[in-house]
Amino acid sequence: MAAADAMTDAARHREAVAIAPGVHWIGALDPALRTFDIILRTEQGTTYNAYLVRGRDGVAVIDTVKAEFAEEFFARLESVADYGEIRAIVLNHLEPDHSGALPELLRRAPQATLYISARAPAILNGLLKSVVPRPKPPLVTVKTGDSLSLGERKLRFLLTPFVHWPDTQCTYLADEGVLFCGDLFGCHLCDGRLFDDRIGEFWPAIDYYYAHIMRPFAHQVREALAEILPLEPRVLAPTHGPILRERPRRYLEHYQALARRPANGPPRLAIFYISAYGNTAQMAEAIAAGAGEADGVQVSTHDIETGETAAFLDLIEGADAVAFGSPTINGDAVKPVWDLLSSLATIDVKGKRAGAFGSYGWSGEAIWLIEERLRGLKMQLPVPGLRIKLIPSTEEIAACHAFGRQLADSLVGGPGSARTLDLAEIG
Ligand code: FEO
Repeated sequence: MAAADAMTDAARHREAVAIAPGVHWIGALDPALRTFDIILRTEQGTTYNAYLVRGRDGVAVIDTVKAEFAEEFFARLESVADYGEIRAIVLNHLEPDHSGALPELLRRAPQATLYISARAPAILNGLLKSVVPRPKPPLVTVKTGDSLSLGERKLRFLLTPFVHWPDTQCTYLADEGVLFCGDLFGCHLCDGRLFDDRIGEFWPAIDYYYAHIMRPFAHQVREALAEILPLEPRVLAPTHGPILRERPRRYLEHYQALARRPANGPPRLAIFYISAYGNTAQMAEAIAAGAGEADGVQVSTHDIETGETAAFLDLIEGADAVAFGSPTINGDAVKPVWDLLSSLATIDVKGKRAGAFGSYGWSGEAIWLIEERLRGLKMQLPVPGLRIKLIPSTEEIAACHAFGRQLADSLVGGPGSARTLDLAEIG
């Protein structure tokens, strides 16, 4: 069903939607969005979810919306509360799609105290510094275990850094079991029915969102889940997509599966290459042969000329070390290599061992450029890049062998792990 057709009357008429006693959704619908953060496809639009919690002693607003949707957000807010009642504004995450309406909300509710995570003030400063006049709200930075009382009910804070920004946190309303979880468990799906039990299945949207937003932070997702699971929340209220209230534990378990650490096994070295005249391919084969001599290291080689980046990403995520081989054409590595290297930002590669190699005609910059990218991803480069001019000689094939052995030994602490190749001797 098209998003516009699926809207409830409340969503269509810009009214707040109750999600629990004294708790309302006051977000905005963006059914027309087709690209998010420049890179994500959003064929089904998205929502910017914000919430309002009413207690005996006042009202808390949790997150806001993208600036262009402020009017819709304020209309929903005004349908259930007066600005003078707002005691607290909680921002679980300050990315502009959730903080865009903040300056105007601060202007309308100047008495409200702003609650953000301890990592958020620098981001807040960046957001507010150009606003004239600059808002200076009362500010409280919070950590896990801190809470905010609204009278008979409390909002408890739970820091979940790097899912997916440094500032990210969750806020838990224990009496109703509602977890306001920021981007966690979110997806880009605009459906005015708002609740998972009204919408039906949308796992592909959750998986796509996880793959592009959360996957590089799988480790931090596991840490967040360890904090969230014992709470046994009855409602997951993310900042994008449907509110999850039908057996919410299945979403937690799904995230556990998505973020699972790769199974233990032998150390793995995956070698990716592309070759114009077969020379870089020869290097890859010799590197694999050398690596194969290291004790217990599983080695695989992959020609990326016709391959699918997605499948290679799974291999890289599961590998302990990776090597990338490219010829140099016009002073650069070739496009399939860059496509793969740019995709590494979507998975967790920090700390993995890595190396670069390739045959070149006259300059050989590809290897340095690949190494620079690998360092930028905070990968470890235990072996200097290996460049060979045109067709590898017998001696140069031996150098490839040594390169592979040394890279593999760096995984198992073998004899090659302390050697350094003398590249000056290798053309
Ligand atoms: Fe939906 Fe990270 O902002």
